[in-house]
Formats: sequence, C-alpha cells, structure tokens
Amino acid sequence: MSTKWLAGIGVLVFSLNVAVNGGTALASEKHKDIVNVSHRGASGHAPEHTILAYEMGEKMHGDYIEVDLQMTKDGKLIAMHDEKLDRTTNGTGLVKEFTLDEIKKLDAGSWFNEQYPQYAKPEYAGLQVPMLEEVFQKFGKNRSYYIETKSPEVYPGMEKELLRLVDKYSINKEKLLVQSFSSLSLKTMHQLDPSVKLVQLLSYKGDAVISDGEIKEISKYAIGIGPNHTYLNEAYVHKVVNSGLELHPYTVNTKDRMKTLIDWGVTGMFTNFPNLLHEVKKGK
Ligand code: G3P
Ligand code: CA
Repeated sequence: MSTKWLAGIGVLVFSLNVAVNGGTALASEKHKDIVNVSHRGASGHAPEHTILAYEMGEKMHGDYIEVDLQMTKDGKLIAMHDEKLDRTTNGTGLVKEFTLDEIKKLDAGSWFNEQYPQYAKPEYAGLQVPMLEEVFQKFGKNRSYYIETKSPEVYPGMEKELLRLVDKYSINKEKLLVQSFSSLSLKTMHQLDPSVKLVQLLSYKGDAVISDGEIKEISKYAIGIGPNHTYLNEAYVHKVVNSGLELHPYTVNTKDRMKTLIDWGVTGMFTNFPNLLHEVKKGK
C-alpha cells in the first residue's frame, strides 16, 4: 500500500474518532501542556508555604509555585494561607496583629510532622514563615509564581505592595499569575498594572454553572478561572475553555481525578502532589 494511501486512512480514522468520541483520542496529547501548580508548594509532602515545600515542588516538576499572601502588623507580605497563625505555626492569633520579627520566631514545620507522621522529617521542625521577598530572592525573577491575594479587605494596600516587590525584584511578568477570590482585589491589580495576568478564583457549593455574562465580566480583567474541582462537569469545562479563558481547578490530589479533568479539557490545576500530576502528564 502506498504512503499516500496510509496517510489517507490515518486522516479518515482520526476524523471518525473526533466525530464519534469528540476528539478523546487526543487526550494523551492534552496531558503534556497541562500547567502543574504546586499548591502551597509540594504541600502534600512538606509543611505548606515553607521554602522547603516550594523547593520540593520545583523538584517534583511543578511549573508554578503557589504563594498565598497575608500581611504583618508592620506591612510585610508573608507566605501563609490562613489569617491566623494557629494552624501552621506554634503561634496563636491574627497575622495582622504581629510584626514580621515576631512571626519569624515561630516554628512553621513541627505541626506538619505531628499531623502527617508518614511524611514527617526532622528538618521540617523549626522552619520559618517566609516573606514574599525571600521567596523572590530564593527562586529568582524567572521562576513562575502563582500568587494569591488572601483577605484583601483585611489588608488595604496589599496589591500595591505586591506590585512594588514584583518590580523591585524584576519578576518576569510573563511567568507571573495573580489569583484571588476577590474580584475587587483583581480589578485593583488590573488598574494598577494591566500587564499582570490574573485568575479569578471561584468556590462552588453545588453543581458548577457559569453564565455567558459571568464569563464576559471575568474576561474583562482576568485570563482565567480557578474553581474548586469537586462540582465541575464536562459542559462547564468546555464552556469556559471555549470562551478563551484558562481553567485551573483546585486542589486535585488523585491521579484518576487529574486524568478526568484533563480529558474534559482543563488547562492546568493546583495540586499538593505535583509529582502525581507530572506522572499523569507523562502518561503513567
Ligand atoms: O488558589 C487556589 C486554591 O489554593 C484556593 O484555595 O484555600 O487553598 O487558597 P485555598
Ligand atoms: Ca491559594
């Protein structure tokens, strides 16, 4: 059989597959481009939002380091998920009521060893809470950062301070994403610097539905949407992705769920186990 014939049959089989299966034959190809976000660092393996967890995320092939931001009493941006110190340090109380010096004295690792003995390591005990500035110093201007403005209503001016540090450390804005549940915070960012790419976080409590109007509104300032993955469905994924927005669900920690979401067409995802997503991307 001639090469021309074989090529023709190949095209026919491909077209039939696309027509019958909606193109699922290409699912394995899709796996390769999925953005792998180390959620709070490789936080399934090491204490979240420590330099060590971020380093581990890098080693495990995470594309982005995710950093949640809180602000200290003296106006320093630190990497922490909660408004309170209690869950991830040996301190207690609100971050905004403590200075950086006070927070630097806390142990941000021992809680992890106690809570996850199967992943515990002696070197996690005594780890410090990093400042955003230290993260930039450690990983440099060309690393991909996925930074969340947390509780922006509690910390007026946090967007401006974030941009000041982005500029001070000449962070490559092509590789920077800023995310928030607060559309107000994202719109403030957009006003202050329209060149920073933004992602609108969403939280669904039941079946995820998004209207054309919502997509249109979000598209005015953001390049993507980050919903919780639990209530997503294929139609939702198609609608968002076909609108041209990126779709990065959080927080996906099993390979089966990663594969399903990728087959539906998401463009990336947050995971505490970037090593698992890396394996999925490799077809394992
Ligand atoms: O930023 C994506 C995801 O991290 C949002 O949820 O609570 O883990 O910050 P949370
Ligand atoms: Ca986050």
